[in-house]
Amino acid sequence: MCYNKGWLNYHRIEHYPDVDLLSKLYLCGVKDYLPGDITFTAVKELVNAINGMLNIDVEVDIQGQRELIPSDKYGIIIERCNPEKEEEFAEYKLVGDGFLLKQCGFHLLILARTESGIMYGVFELIRRIASNQSINQVEILENPKNPLRMLNHWDNMDGSIERGYSGNSFFFEDKEVVVNDRTKDYARLIASVGINGVVINNVNVRAEATELITDRYLGKLKEMADIFANYGIRLFVSANFAAPMEIGGLSLADPLDEGVANWWKDCIRKVYEAIPGFGGFLIKADSEGRPGPFTYNRTHADGANVLARALKPYGGLVVWRCFVYNCQQDWRDYKTDRARAAYDNFIGLDGKFDENVILQIKNGPMDFQVREPVSPLFGGLKNTNQMLEVQIAQEYTGQQRHVCYLIPMWKEVLDFNTYAKPEGAKIADIVSGRTYGQVNCGMAAVANTGNDYNWTGHDLAAANLYGYGRLAWNTDMSSEAIAKEWICMTYSYKDKVVNNLLQILLKSWPAYEKYTSPLGIGWMVNPNNHYGPNVDGYEYDRWGTYHRADRNGLGVDRTKEGTGYAQQYNEPNASMYENIETCPEELLLFFHYVRYDYKLKSGKTLIQHIYDTHFEGVSDVEDMIRSFEEIKSMIPEDVYQRVMERFAMQLDSAKEWRDRINTYFYRKSGVEDAYGRKIYK
Ligand code: GCU
Repeated sequence: MCYNKGWLNYHRIEHYPDVDLLSKLYLCGVKDYLPGDITFTAVKELVNAINGMLNIDVEVDIQGQRELIPSDKYGIIIERCNPEKEEEFAEYKLVGDGFLLKQCGFHLLILARTESGIMYGVFELIRRIASNQSINQVEILENPKNPLRMLNHWDNMDGSIERGYSGNSFFFEDKEVVVNDRTKDYARLIASVGINGVVINNVNVRAEATELITDRYLGKLKEMADIFANYGIRLFVSANFAAPMEIGGLSLADPLDEGVANWWKDCIRKVYEAIPGFGGFLIKADSEGRPGPFTYNRTHADGANVLARALKPYGGLVVWRCFVYNCQQDWRDYKTDRARAAYDNFIGLDGKFDENVILQIKNGPMDFQVREPVSPLFGGLKNTNQMLEVQIAQEYTGQQRHVCYLIPMWKEVLDFNTYAKPEGAKIADIVSGRTYGQVNCGMAAVANTGNDYNWTGHDLAAANLYGYGRLAWNTDMSSEAIAKEWICMTYSYKDKVVNNLLQILLKSWPAYEKYTSPLGIGWMVNPNNHYGPNVDGYEYDRWGTYHRADRNGLGVDRTKEGTGYAQQYNEPNASMYENIETCPEELLLFFHYVRYDYKLKSGKTLIQHIYDTHFEGVSDVEDMIRSFEEIKSMIPEDVYQRVMERFAMQLDSAKEWRDRINTYFYRKSGVEDAYGRKIYK
């Protein structure tokens, strides 16, 4: 096989304490039990996992009568709540696809309202066993925190992947849709961590990809959608706003034109005839050269709603991206600020989108930098469905050559209080629907997978894919807990392996931040490929991404005197950012122009902080390498080799970053390092 099983490889667990409970499986309340049902899938997964980890052949009894199950014999009971007997299950407080995993006497009960809920309960049990945790007296009730937990793949139909660092696409090859064993293995991996929606193609929809929603591809997409459906996942595609022109032969794509609206209705009807469970569209419009409603002087609400109305009869969704900004900026222009763009473009449209439209908002106002403030649209929009978009693909965070565990970053975003309500409103509350009661909302992430043997290029980058799913399911989980689970599932529950890998993962994002661009300013990367240092790479370009360094200092003034961006936040956040004294230091240069001799809270000057963090970042990488070397004999040889190769690249790159940044700022400022370390002059 040309790929591994990721965290579902089911390695053997010696001396597991609770094997008695696991030798028999009873199914209750499950009407159909046929291949194609999620329950069938879940049972197969459980039987297979128990066999792999504990070497037990689980006997499955599908009689389905609770009364017939002997109360004095051990066994797992999988039970689907009977909606007609609501009162019997009310005490369990199960919501949506939630599950209960509970020991009741001789039985281990997995109870859920939906088939997906059963599957999620099964994977919870598998995780417990893989991490060698006892299930004796277990009682876990989990309801998903986010209704939608999506992955966005930026795969192109020629097989390449935009910002892909793990090989080629396993969805497309030579302009054809690929459906094979890997499709299923992909579905099981992501379903096991709670993903329930997948967009398979790049948001930049060009050429053949525009035709994905036509007869040319619908047959193959149906096969894929069926495999996904077995795992509770809905298939979505990115669509081209100009499809009515590019493939429909119309002369325009004006969303208020009746002919255009009818074209979409007709197209969408055919899609649903072929794939009744189809999820809907992801749309990038008026962004980085993609077509959109602005061409016709229409709003993004007009644009989204024409699609939403055509999708509505079938329960389909429009996920509309807010990544809309002017990418033809002039660096001499100090007033236009790309960071303002999403808010300026969308805030006036609050409440104007149909119920089945969701605005998908990147976590920060720029573009997935190692450090950004959160997008002020969260906390600004109050009457609009919203979804948080993060990037698992490490476009700006080391491109899966550097280890960079991103869960701590996303947790900071989710925990951010927007103060949209006086009692507080965290981003996690807004996108989950808790703040405003929305149901079409959740999280989306740009995937980091490809057809590499290990799926994610860097073996440790799989922790981000795994972790994203787990976090989207339960935003309360800690970064440590998620990392530990992933390590146990993938490699081993042994202390040394868990501790060393955990240290590496938790150190990695702060380390990357230290040796790259300082204090939230971002960019400073090579243009186009976005890998490696290039301090002025984007300084005089058209993308609105400047650091404004001179001989006295650097940073962008985004206060009232500057671009005014800080004012897009609710109070007290706006004042916090506005004032250099209260602005969180990790974002200082994002919000302020700061002199090199400015004293930070640590007592260090800004320039000394830059030098220190760049030396520290490199030594952090050396520490990570040492921790990894210590577990050499405890992890598979091929994993060790691959990761060490990447570590070598990371160390070289970190040194290059350190020296380029330190030299650049030494040359600008003329200030010596207080410790006399090597800076190339
Ligand atoms: C970034 C990225 C692009 C991508 C875009 C987007 O700009 O570099 O490759 O298309 O984000 O999110 O649409």
